[in-house]
Amino acid sequence: MSNITLHTLTARKQAGEKFAVLTAYDATFAHLVSSAGIEMILVGDSLGMVLQGQSSTLPVTVDEMAYHTASVARGNQSAMIMSDLPFMSYSTPEQAMDNSAKLMQAGAHIVKLEGGDWLCDSVRMLAERGVPVCPHLGLTPQAVNKLGGYRVQGRDRQSALKMIEDAKKLEDAGASMLLLECVPTLLAEEITRNVEIPVIGIGAGHHTDAQVLVMHDMLGITPGRRPKFVKDFMTEADSIEQAFRLYGDQVRAGTFPGPEHGFE
Ligand code: KIV
Ligand code: NA
Repeated sequence: MSNITLHTLTARKQAGEKFAVLTAYDATFAHLVSSAGIEMILVGDSLGMVLQGQSSTLPVTVDEMAYHTASVARGNQSAMIMSDLPFMSYSTPEQAMDNSAKLMQAGAHIVKLEGGDWLCDSVRMLAERGVPVCPHLGLTPQAVNKLGGYRVQGRDRQSALKMIEDAKKLEDAGASMLLLECVPTLLAEEITRNVEIPVIGIGAGHHTDAQVLVMHDMLGITPGRRPKFVKDFMTEADSIEQAFRLYGDQVRAGTFPGPEHGFE
């Protein structure tokens, strides 16, 4: 299988073909996820919760992200690798550049950062210097204390319009992809239609160009209550690799997520 690049995934959007993204944090799972045909691996700062047992993503450091990115890169077969810039590692464009360099040198192909139009300067500077960027909008978990909990974003007209504007401004600044987390299905559909770059969704309905899930959630092994947008693929699979394949197949076929996984 040849390597999947930004070019591959942008062409998918233009062709109206969906693609699948899954988190992975180590070499063994990166090998399995990419062998199962998942197009992109997200080395998410969700590793703070999933691997470290933290109660939020805030304690995660750049060095930890670089360590897990390098592990994933060693196991990866052909997927594109996206890595998260963690909390407070991109407060200024200079900081964003220094810390993106660490993730790219560890093996990332694109970096993700959380926020709205205030990221435009960083996005522009990174893009100009050859670093693809994916801004993450909607529920941005690094801002959980400001948001007052993990809640659906963009439900009122004013915040919905602001998200639509931010998405456009970030595209114009040079963003290569967007990620929408926990936003109403119709808002995510409108943003996806408004931009040329691929839009990845989680809890953002079935109209985005791609979907992402945290691996442990879709394997049904995350303790506690399961969010509405998650599906346990192990209930249909005989093995972890088959669960990854089913997830990819259903995302590409447009059968996952269903309307029942989205928010009004
Ligand atoms: O860290 C992560 O896994 C993420 C996804 C939930 C989008 O950012
Ligand atoms: Na994240």
